[in-house]
Amino acid sequence: MSSCHIFDYSSIFANQLFYCNVLQKMEKTIDENVQGTTLAVERKETNKRNLYIESYGCAMNFADSEIVASILATEGFNTTQTLEDADLILVNTCSIRDKAEQTIRKRLTEYNKVKKSRPHLKVGVLGCMAERLKDKLLDEEKIVDMVVGPDAYKDLPNLIKEVDSGRDAVNVILSKDETYGDIAPVRLNTNGVTAFVSITRGCDNMCTFCVVPFTRGRERSRDPQSILEEVNELERKGFKEITLLGQNVDSYLWYGGGLKKNFENASEMQKATATNFSKLLETVALAYPKMRIRFSTSNPQDMTLDVIETMAKHKNICDHIHLPVQSGSNRILKEMNRLHTIEEYFELIDNIRQILPDCSISQDIITGFPTETEEDHTSTLKALEYVKYDFGYMYAYSERPGTLAGRKMDDDIPEKTKKRRLSEIIALQRQHCQYRTEKHVGKVQEVLIEGTSKKSENEWMGRNSQSTVVVFPKENYKVGDFVNVQINDCTSATLKGIAQGYSDNN
Ligand code: SAH
Ligand code: F3S
Repeated sequence: MSSCHIFDYSSIFANQLFYCNVLQKMEKTIDENVQGTTLAVERKETNKRNLYIESYGCAMNFADSEIVASILATEGFNTTQTLEDADLILVNTCSIRDKAEQTIRKRLTEYNKVKKSRPHLKVGVLGCMAERLKDKLLDEEKIVDMVVGPDAYKDLPNLIKEVDSGRDAVNVILSKDETYGDIAPVRLNTNGVTAFVSITRGCDNMCTFCVVPFTRGRERSRDPQSILEEVNELERKGFKEITLLGQNVDSYLWYGGGLKKNFENASEMQKATATNFSKLLETVALAYPKMRIRFSTSNPQDMTLDVIETMAKHKNICDHIHLPVQSGSNRILKEMNRLHTIEEYFELIDNIRQILPDCSISQDIITGFPTETEEDHTSTLKALEYVKYDFGYMYAYSERPGTLAGRKMDDDIPEKTKKRRLSEIIALQRQHCQYRTEKHVGKVQEVLIEGTSKKSENEWMGRNSQSTVVVFPKENYKVGDFVNVQINDCTSATLKGIAQGYSDNN
């Protein structure tokens, strides 16, 4: 780890580097710090079997695991964090890059070792890898008993009965309307302050590099009423910040249920009363004025000005937009089927800067997409220069079987070139990270305390509205307090300050 808070995980995830704010949990993007986390739910005495559930990948997977644990809590399962105590192991998997799948295959061999001493133990694979590989997983990984796709979790009780009776069980059917809106996720292993609330499932964008549309199916939105109920419950339990979660939140559209792509067939009444993302955001902001609201991920082709205006209107909507750009080259953006040009992206950035001058902006970038030239790479560096992102997540292209790029294009950029370009991108982002972080110094900012700082027992860790981590001496404040902090100093990704008193949000 360098002094500049650049975290090079290349030894673990060879084709993926993760940059700045690694503690940032609100991103839907993969957070290395939480990979492989197990989930533990309060024990029920009447439950006789132990579930060990481990999650990989994006925040959506972690949110899904809470739904799974909630379903199985009523099916006789307590959760355990000790692998050796498990009667059922479930692993919620990620397919976004090849390395993610390799990590999970390694874990499966670890589970196999436990199976030797616990012959009754069953192993189930959930999530994107389950969906991508389907029953091939049963053949390839002999220790897997159950394969369950992201839309089939309500079928788990039946599938478990199947495996209990000695048969393998598979359900990878993708759904038109499943949003799990009616299941209250369990909230454990959390800080009790911040939580994710899913608002859409699936994605229709079909970026040519991306496996998500294949593993998570067509895009559908969740009933705003059930979203409000979940937020209400979170507020009642003392949570202070929510992140509305979706692959592409700007595309949210509720018209009574069903796929986004079928909206044009909806009745006139349904069309007239439909809720889009800015309306949902406003509804939640107005209903819970004390709740901090974040959202992730935005998509440049779908983000509209009214979302930015809604953010400006409501103080409780945080000033941060995660706006993946992927590439700065128009030719590559076209090959990626990102339906915007870099000029249109810059126009959106200009609008954000104008309407929300204090807003932080973060990115996702893929380097080494097929046919990417040095000139294309230079355009990406220029895009970084233009925006000067607060932080970002940068990856080397990993070919995914079944995607359009996987089928139609040669993965023709040598690994060495990908790595070199990636490190150039990271080096530049590192400068911008420092530049943006320094801009907070000297200001007084409202910080929501999330927990104790990792570096010092005597300091709190929280975030400002822009999602930058702030640490400051604890004094008499406690987790969940909103505190005004005078920012005095910083490293490239962390602000340091002194509390000035409670903010008016307490
Ligand atoms: N719209 C989603 C994107 C999910 S994937 C969201 O809400 O964030 C997260 C990021 O992983 C993408 O933005 C992209 O930068 C990266 N990614 C996706 N597929 C990839 C691939 N095949 N190789 C390398 N990186 C990839
Ligand atoms: Fe993937 Fe593009 Fe959707 S990156 S999740 S297909 S917006």
